[in-house]
Amino acid sequence: MATPTKARSPIEPRVQNVAGTCTAVIGLQWGDEGKGKLVDLLAAEHDAVVRYNGGANAGHSVVIGGERFALHLIPSGILSPGKPAVIGNGVVIDPEALLKEIDGLKSRGVDTSGLVVSSRAHVVLPYHKAEDAMREEMLKPGPDGGPGAEIGTTRRGIGPSYADKVQRASAVRVGDLLRRDVLASRVGLACRLKAPLLSAGPGGSPDPATTVDTALGWGERLRPLVSDTTYLLHDMLRAGRKLLFEGANGTLLDVDHGTYPFVTSSSTGVAGIASGTGVPPSAVGPLVGVMKAYSTRVGGGPFPTELHDATGDRIRQRGREFGTTTGRPRRVGWLDLVAVRYAAMINGATCLAVMLFDVLAGLDELKVCTAYEIDGERTDRFPPDAHDLSRASPVFKTLEGFSEEITEARRLDDLPSRARRYLEFIEQSVEVPLGSVSIGPDRRQTIRLLV
Ligand code: IMP
Repeated sequence: MATPTKARSPIEPRVQNVAGTCTAVIGLQWGDEGKGKLVDLLAAEHDAVVRYNGGANAGHSVVIGGERFALHLIPSGILSPGKPAVIGNGVVIDPEALLKEIDGLKSRGVDTSGLVVSSRAHVVLPYHKAEDAMREEMLKPGPDGGPGAEIGTTRRGIGPSYADKVQRASAVRVGDLLRRDVLASRVGLACRLKAPLLSAGPGGSPDPATTVDTALGWGERLRPLVSDTTYLLHDMLRAGRKLLFEGANGTLLDVDHGTYPFVTSSSTGVAGIASGTGVPPSAVGPLVGVMKAYSTRVGGGPFPTELHDATGDRIRQRGREFGTTTGRPRRVGWLDLVAVRYAAMINGATCLAVMLFDVLAGLDELKVCTAYEIDGERTDRFPPDAHDLSRASPVFKTLEGFSEEITEARRLDDLPSRARRYLEFIEQSVEVPLGSVSIGPDRRQTIRLLV
């Protein structure tokens, strides 16, 4: 006979009702979806803004009162004065770039006192940037004119820094910038390991002593910002505070789920939040999937709906589609709903934020890709890698365009009916409700429905 179980004393859950207290803003395309604007807007309704992935490869631009701010490492929430802006452990931090960004914001009168940096975050050192550039050069087409294999990275040292993180012994974390001995041994090892590659490059082998001295100087300046952000965030959750997670890059650049190998080196989607901050997945929701009303891509890799004509040029000019980080003209194309539907599925998006919708005004017709043809087969599923996607031809549905400028609209009803039809088509195809629509760069130029 089974022994009766002893009555257990009830345990007060450590964190109560956390579901719904952490909003996540995640890009559903190849980055540059307009996440920065949305985060800046939502920051006012949250108690902290948290970056969890990527590094200075990201470029978030925010326009406030006609003034444009370009942010790379610092969460866009910094523009809400005094609010904690947290750079989580999953981010790779170039201290030089971070300090420059802090100085730039301060010189424009922005209060950066809320900035906090995880001691667990990994560091991008000058040799990572040299390695990134060298690898890209080596991957370019050879003299025989064969196809190149370069990724088209931002050359910000992102991949090499994440690679060191996974290699472990020679990696440097922010906390190490405050400990000379540890730093010297790690940098020494990294320089030895990297010498065979870098000695052949323009900068030659990295000098460990100079690297250590420079890095210690950065560490001293960053010291007041460095903290154990994992506990900081959990303390906030426990106190009932609302966190806002700001994704960088985009889901189609995710190292696992993107168009591999033409991806970045981090988990850009929802899964990156838990590993990149220490906040459990159960705390995350609602999840805003951010998408442009069309598609863009920077760097190499397949892009089935890419436009190489006057329509593409028009969208590029109206949308100011030039990289915030590198200034490179972005590749532009029609909206790819196969890709967006896949990205919304991967992330469990609970609503969609359609950005840069005003850019499409004035086009007679708007095409959207609803399926692909791959080797004669039609599919509405996103292929698992770049090789398969490069063989996909888009199947387009053509919708009527709208001629009116829409930047003054403040409600859905203010939009012309053809514009509303386009939005409805997106919602129905992605099977996720519309949360907001952006019709201009300013905070005011946003139609807010669910978010
Ligand atoms: P990496 O992140 O610099 O290694 O670059 C890898 C790929 O991701 C390249 O195609 C970059 O252009 C792209 N990429 C990285 N970050 C962003 C971003 O924030 N927006 C758009 N593309 C990006």
